[in-house]
Amino acid sequence: MRVLVVGGGGREHALCWALGASPFCDALYCAPGNPGIAKVATCLAVGAEDIAGLVSTAQKEKIDFVVVGPEAPLVAGLVDALATVGIKAFGPTAKAARLEGSKAFMKDFFARHKVPTAAYGRFTDAAKAKAFITSKGAPIVVKADGLAAGKGVILCQSVAEGHAAIDTIMTDRAFGAAGNEVVVEEFLPGEEASFFAIVDGTTALPLAAAQDHKAVGDGDTGPNTGGMGAYSPAPIIDAAMQERIMAEIIMPTVRGMAAEGCPFKGVLFAGLMIDKNGPKTLEFNVRFGDPECEVLMTRLKSDLLPALVAAVDGQLKNFDLRWHDDTALTVIMAANGYPGTPQKGTVIKGLDAAAKIEGVTVFHAGTKAGDNGAIIANGGRVLAVTATGKTVGEAQARAYKGVDAIKWPGGFCRRDIGWRAIAREKRG
Ligand code: AMP
Ligand code: GLY
Repeated sequence: MRVLVVGGGGREHALCWALGASPFCDALYCAPGNPGIAKVATCLAVGAEDIAGLVSTAQKEKIDFVVVGPEAPLVAGLVDALATVGIKAFGPTAKAARLEGSKAFMKDFFARHKVPTAAYGRFTDAAKAKAFITSKGAPIVVKADGLAAGKGVILCQSVAEGHAAIDTIMTDRAFGAAGNEVVVEEFLPGEEASFFAIVDGTTALPLAAAQDHKAVGDGDTGPNTGGMGAYSPAPIIDAAMQERIMAEIIMPTVRGMAAEGCPFKGVLFAGLMIDKNGPKTLEFNVRFGDPECEVLMTRLKSDLLPALVAAVDGQLKNFDLRWHDDTALTVIMAANGYPGTPQKGTVIKGLDAAAKIEGVTVFHAGTKAGDNGAIIANGGRVLAVTATGKTVGEAQARAYKGVDAIKWPGGFCRRDIGWRAIAREKRG
């Protein structure tokens, strides 16, 4: 098969790394890719959101199978556009991608299909949203309806903060048109985890679970980001919890989407909050998580490509995937300034030394090639330094050895990725 991966971040580097190892993959392309991806795939200079450009490139390169990494092209209808020219693509149609593309659609869908989630209101009017916040009290959560790169969610500790969040999203338009509407919802206590399943329209095959670290600072402090590090498996999701998540959240969603005439194919990524009452859904994403994908791919023993093809062909029913028991843990190195305006253009050294450390793989996220083979920071999240180990503690120690081998004064990372699981390991 001639395979094209769409995207250019750490998730897509991990996908290319896994897909390139498949005996069924004869040629691997990535659009637009990055310098790390260029080592395992041919990068094509087409943007991940250039739907027409991607379709014509896929035709020109005689691509048999497209794997879409990010949400934006899915929401914009890339899978539909490829289907009209007869090219198979892994990922949901635009209609099915509304599960992520509109939080208001998602919340109403949860209500229709009794998927457990936080109580909420949705508003296009700032004054009404503020009145709702005043009536509910704090803590409370304010979310821009549309896509905002993981940053459109504001956790408010007081009613005043809630009102300020409405001003930021609806009046100042901090996230542009994504703030035409807001969802205001109940604050859910508990421990967060990410759960992944691949879906073929009717059957869902559970992948592994992972835990991400959304806040920018150690100890989960500071503003939210797209994710500063992750590990898998997630100890909070044992076999019994996985069964509940499949029965109470994933399968009602798969059945509901089919019943509403937009069967879901692709990765269903449930962001969960788990407490003593069980799992509740914070959100759905319609693609692999980033950086969760980096740890999932590192742990996957089976060939990824046939599983993704089976999802598109509606053949997951008799499919199974195998995983390494080891933990994988990834630390994001971000450019100074992230999640505000990241400083671009600084030089990164020591990548080869990091990759030589036992168990360590460095995935590129926001990098570009400079002169004479130099690697330059070119985004917010820049590297995903990933390691495996027998325990979370061992994987963490190796990952930070990798981080410390990288010489990059223009970047920073959290030093506590995996702290919850490591505290559990210490308690035994
Ligand atoms: P979302 O993009 O909706 O997953 O929200 C981003 C992050 O905000 C989540 O990963 C949680 O850490 C936090 N969050 C979102 N909604 C809630 C909620 N209702 N209660 C508590 N935390 C939340
Ligand atoms: N790491 C969270 C996400 O990909 O949305």
